[in-house]
Amino acid sequence: MTELPLRLAVLISGRGSNLQTILDTITQGRLAARVMLVISNRPGAAGLAVARAADVPMAVVDHREYPDRESFEHGLSAHIDDAAVDLIVLAGFMRVLTAEFVQRYHGRLLNIHPSLLPAFAGLDTHARALAASAREHGASVHFVTAAVDGGPVIAQTRVPVLEEDVPDSLARRVLEAEHRLYPLVLGWFCEARVALKLGTVYLDGLPLAAPVQFAYEAQRE
Ligand code: GRF
Repeated sequence: MTELPLRLAVLISGRGSNLQTILDTITQGRLAARVMLVISNRPGAAGLAVARAADVPMAVVDHREYPDRESFEHGLSAHIDDAAVDLIVLAGFMRVLTAEFVQRYHGRLLNIHPSLLPAFAGLDTHARALAASAREHGASVHFVTAAVDGGPVIAQTRVPVLEEDVPDSLARRVLEAEHRLYPLVLGWFCEARVALKLGTVYLDGLPLAAPVQFAYEAQRE
């Protein structure tokens, strides 16, 4: 059984707004978790300042200092295993992970991706959604597998695309939606409600036929 609070490692490469939201949600007493460690693969990631301000231990594992992906990942694992975390939360972490790494943390490795997967895996999702005249866009929280952005999806938040949207405006609303979705799904882990078994997501003991769906409504200004 998982002991409360759930011990998290958050892996980032950049801005760290999802990290900030997770930390805020914990501080507000709305998430029974503790961020034990933040790891960035980029020394200059703005998210490191977020970790510093919250007094969270952090490590930089700079992929450029390792000869190959495997040794880089050994560097990551050394920190993760030292911190004895329950869950590894990718939040804007921009490195592809090997099958070996993903297997090592099977069922304990989550990512948030800014699209309604399987649509728009990969980069530049907002511009691609607009170019495809998508009427809806959004974000997905999924278990990480060796297939990039291809692991089983737990939940999605759907964001209507507006006529006047440009990539930045759409990205802003999707990010707001992400900030609601990620802590919510992490809360399910805190309550031991979600698990991955044989490639299928289980919620409250039942297999999910499809990801749980949320509809995002923009906050009024
Ligand atoms: C988010 O859009 C997330 O979905 C994607 O990378 C971005 C990270 O943003 N994987 P931030 O660093 O959390 O602000």
